[in-house]
Order: sequence, then structure tokens, then C-alpha cells
Amino acid sequence: MQKPQEIVLAEPRGFCAGVDRAIEIVERAIAKFGAPIYVRHEIVHNTYVVNDLKAKGAIFIEDLDEVPPGATLIFSAHGVSRAVQDEARARGFTIFDATCPLVTKVHVEVAKLAKEGYEFIMIGHKGHPEVEGTMGQLDHGIHLVEDVADVARVQPAQTEKLAVVTQTTLSVDDAAEITAAVRARFPSIREPKQQDICYATQNRQDAVKLLSPQVDLVIVVGSPTSSNSNRLRELAARLGTPAYMIDSVDELRHEWFDGISRVGLTAGASAPEVLVQAVITRIKELGAVAVRKLDGIEETVKFPLPKGLKLDTVTGL
Ligand code: F3S
Repeated sequence: MQKPQEIVLAEPRGFCAGVDRAIEIVERAIAKFGAPIYVRHEIVHNTYVVNDLKAKGAIFIEDLDEVPPGATLIFSAHGVSRAVQDEARARGFTIFDATCPLVTKVHVEVAKLAKEGYEFIMIGHKGHPEVEGTMGQLDHGIHLVEDVADVARVQPAQTEKLAVVTQTTLSVDDAAEITAAVRARFPSIREPKQQDICYATQNRQDAVKLLSPQVDLVIVVGSPTSSNSNRLRELAARLGTPAYMIDSVDELRHEWFDGISRVGLTAGASAPEVLVQAVITRIKELGAVAVRKLDGIEETVKFPLPKGLKLDTVTGL
């Protein structure tokens, strides 16, 4: 059996600024207010991160009924609907919003244009919490399309004031194709000045496009619930390279490496580097001797923490 010779790392990979911020919000809330801290939905879609925060004192819930009066509640990075925000406020919880600022930007745009009488076509995956949160910014007037076939079926009440928004973690190529179909059907539709797909999604997909042709196999570290991780695996497979997504090093299968010389490795925006390093160690045990990092965009994006959780320079909390 030929053993893997080289590991090639995609750049950038792993945590984005929105995930960094969301995790820091939970950790700081626990440090400042004490455990338990309640978090609505998985703070980010990663099993390791969620288990780590559970061990530190976070309780993850889906329904606000599970949160006791007077508790501190954090909204996940995916964002929440108006109804959830209103209910949480009405119940008097101390709330910190870990919604990624790039998701909030889409919410703000939807609210602003809705006031001007716009209706929306949203491109996204049904049931994903970000889609529920964005669609839930309005009582009505947002129509979800998941693919080109949906575009032909969608029935807005009017077409003069129509705008398109997208989930931030889509396949860039799929979204372009669906947007083209939307544009063809509704030529005067308003599009965002800057695409809603976020910089991190774009950069990680660009990195996989560079990586895939150089390797015989692509491993994506990410949880099954993570939209952007799934898109990375699909993209590599579409480019003709066998690709697997793993939630932890224990999911690696030796037979994947039969006859493989170069292994490409990347991680979704919610997957921590510690898991990537564990995978590198395991593949080295199989025989790989070299680790090469591809050139890629250096990300410098950083989002501020919410008021009330900023670092106190005196106490360190
Ligand atoms: Fe935000 Fe994009 Fe990350 S929307 S949470 S920066 S994947």
C-alpha cells in the first residue's frame, strides 16, 4: 500500500472573525456572570466547540421556555428572528447577541428596504437557522429559493420593488447561478452593493479551488451541520478530487489513503485549528513526511465585542 507523502494545507481555513467573536462572547459571559449561561442554538455549528463551552458552563437550548427567569442568554452566530428577539426581551433575560455582524448587515438591509415597500427573494437552505433568522426579520414578503427550479416557481405579490438577499455561507458558484436565474426572471430586481456571501466563505472556497488540483484527496474538518464546511467538501468533489468531511480525527479512515500521495486539508469557518493539528498528526503517523502550506489571502477582519463584555483593563474580565 502506498502511504501519503505530503500534507498540503489550504490557506485560509478554519475560524472566521464571526466565529471567533461568538465563542469569545460566551467565554466572557461565563467569566463575568458565572455559569450557567444559556445559548440559543449551537453558538457555531461545531461539535468540539459546543462540547468545550458546555464543559465551561454554557447550556445550549432551542426553545426560550428552557431558560429560567433572570438568566443570561446569548443568541448564536447565525442570528435570530424578530419574534425570538422580542420574546427574549419580554421575558427580561440579560441578552448578548453573538449574531455575526455580517448576518446583522443582511438583517438591517432587509428591514430598511421593507420599510420602502420591498419584497425579497432569499437564496438559502431551508431550515438553516440563519435563513430562519433573516426571513424572520419580516412577518411576510420574503420568498426562499434553494435552487434554479425554485426561481421559476416563486410568486412575489409584485415585481416593481423586489430585492435579493442570500445566506452568507452558500456555495459561491451555486449562488451565482441562482442569482443569474433570479435576474433573468426579474430583470429589475435590486441586488446588494456587496454580495451577502461573506469574505470567509469566499476565501475558504477560493483556497479549496487552489488546493484541489494539487492533491489526490481533500479532507475537510467540519461538523455535518456546518453549511460552509459542507460546501467546501462539495466543491473539492466537484473539482474531481475525492473529498471527505470529518468532525474529529477519529472519523479518519485508513482506506481513504490507499494509493494517495498528497492529502489536502482544510477546515470550515467554525472548525478549530486544534482539530486540524490532530488530523495532521494522525496522517503523519500513516507516513506523511512533509507539510506544505499554500499561499492564500491573509485575513485581518476582527469584529468588536458587544457592550458589557469588552475587556476591563483593570480586572482583566
Ligand atoms: Fe460571519 Fe461568515 Fe463567519 S457570516 S460567522 S464571517 S462564516
